[in-house]
Amino acid sequence: MKKKNSWLNENIKRIAWLDHYTKPEKMEGAIKLDSNENFALDRDFVAGVAAEAAKQVDLREYPLGQMDELYALLAKYAGVSVECVALGSGSDQIIELLLSTLGGRHATVLSPTFSYFINRCKLHGIKVYQVPLEPDFTLDKKAFVKAAKRSDLIYICSPNNPTGNQLDRREMIEVVDSLEDRLVLIDEAYVDFADYSLSGEAIKRNNVIVLRTLSKAFGLAGARVGYIVSNRKFVKIFRSIIQSPYPISTLSLAIASGILADVDQVKQTIKSVRLERERVFARLAKIDGIKIFRSDANFIFIEAGENYHAISKILNSNGIVVKLLGNITNHKGCMRITIGTREMNDQYLKCIEQII
Ligand SMILES: Cc1ncc(COP(=O)(O)O)c(C=O)c1O
Repeated sequence: MKKKNSWLNENIKRIAWLDHYTKPEKMEGAIKLDSNENFALDRDFVAGVAAEAAKQVDLREYPLGQMDELYALLAKYAGVSVECVALGSGSDQIIELLLSTLGGRHATVLSPTFSYFINRCKLHGIKVYQVPLEPDFTLDKKAFVKAAKRSDLIYICSPNNPTGNQLDRREMIEVVDSLEDRLVLIDEAYVDFADYSLSGEAIKRNNVIVLRTLSKAFGLAGARVGYIVSNRKFVKIFRSIIQSPYPISTLSLAIASGILADVDQVKQTIKSVRLERERVFARLAKIDGIKIFRSDANFIFIEAGENYHAISKILNSNGIVVKLLGNITNHKGCMRITIGTREMNDQYLKCIEQII
């Protein structure tokens, strides 16, 4: 009896010890700058699209044509052909599927990076090599490629969460090209705020998958819609075999299509977030006692050092929630703060300026 259960017990024991993602607590009325959502996108606009979608769909039916409609809109937005796009229930679910089918035994990532990916690799029993970024968050290409060549899967977050920066485009392509026989997953969750995407490169190669989402720039974190851009052959296999038949609700599909049909409104907010990013950066740069880093995303990475606790405390007492990261490698007292609306940003800037 004891012997029969040992495999199960051992596995549950192993899983119970793993790191896990802790969902932020819901704080009524808080200024929420911890999850990189897009609050510059008007809430009423999103609510209007959702209400219209709710009127159109028939929830008694499985989602059929709605997926095709969304493929077409996403392909147009990403500038690729419709056969190169596939969908998932948020990019989280796509990561899960890729790890369970093509994860292999070893993965290489940069450090720090999106911790969810590392946690999920460990859950799937995939060993993760973490190659540290340089102190200014640029790439140590030699070390990265060396580790990557010993692994089956390579994950690069571009722009990187939590540091915010994109690596040099040419360097990225050199890395991808040196790993032709391995799966390279490029997570572009924040690419809408950045200067370049590798979607156009992914469709030409047989080993590159670009992962994108409508949770950030498109203001649809609650709808759970993610997508991939890759070569036609892989996309066909992903759509028909790897992905389940109905991963996204009809309502979420219709909402996503509704937002994409009015993509100019989203693009307008992306522009305003980028301008705010510059303004916030310039204000923070004037504050002695904190260090900030260039961002290509809709958040800024701050190294607060010995001011970490004082800043955390004042933000907390003013109902401002940011992502507190603590010490990361040689960076002390780190936090990641979403670029919100001008009003939201002013509130936390005032707090930080007040105490340092
Ligand atoms: C880098 C990165 N990838 C993926 C995700 C997951 O996004 P989704 O909401 O599409 O699951 C996030 C969310 O924070 C993220 O930061």
